[in-house]
Amino acid sequence: MTRHDLKPILVFDSGIGGLTVLREARVLMPERGFIYVADDAGFPYGGWEEEALTKRILSLFTDLLGTYQPEICVIACNTAFTLAGAALRQAFPMMTFVGTVPAIKPAAERTRSGLVSVLATPGTVKRAYTRDLIQSFASQCHVRLVGSENLARLAEAYIRGEGVNDEAVTAEIAPCFVEKDGARTDIVVLACTHYPFMANVFRRLAPWPVDWLDPAEAIARQARRMVPAADHTEHGQDYDFAVFTSGNPDFATRRLMQGFGLRIL
Ligand code: DGL
Repeated sequence: MTRHDLKPILVFDSGIGGLTVLREARVLMPERGFIYVADDAGFPYGGWEEEALTKRILSLFTDLLGTYQPEICVIACNTAFTLAGAALRQAFPMMTFVGTVPAIKPAAERTRSGLVSVLATPGTVKRAYTRDLIQSFASQCHVRLVGSENLARLAEAYIRGEGVNDEAVTAEIAPCFVEKDGARTDIVVLACTHYPFMANVFRRLAPWPVDWLDPAEAIARQARRMVPAADHTEHGQDYDFAVFTSGNPDFATRRLMQGFGLRIL
């Protein structure tokens, strides 16, 4: 069986943040081809009204599943999955959706100070899903939710090679750092798949060292569990491609995709 005979894995995000998950997924599923879908026409998802965004995502998936018939879909976007994960599973019961949710449980298990921050889009911090995660897994911790208006955009600019201003980034991450009764935040959950691209910048600008928790590998492991292992005899990069809902990604984005071995359809 060749790589082309196997169904591809579809990885979805509002922009290029899902590449942080794709990177890990490829390591664990070398026999599979990948279709990366960026809903850049809808980016950023963080500020969308909930009903309208759910409708948009459901309608996109009606087309995507019909066109590409993937083995599974990885929703590499906290903002999309915490909102529309249940609706997707209900609308397409034959498809497996692997989701991305804020890594609050592992953070609560790992923190020593008991002070954890969740850095996410304004959409994700508002979600009932996120509140439920805190209640179920982190009730013994002090969890600070930080909804960032600008970081997803800044991360897109950064990864495309445009300069980003240190002060602008510092302003976005500063609320994550809490001091309380002599204790300090020791874990910041990167609850938007765009943010791990900037982890080095965050580390440099942080007022003190913390663990920046990136869930990409855990998501990839979960995806691997859902995809039957198969022998393959061919390793062609040419099978992997990216789809942009705008139909027109800019030059820097095209180059970035090339760097990830993704053709643009
Ligand atoms: N990458 C997305 C997430 O994980 C969000 C970026 C956006 O569209 O605002 O939440």
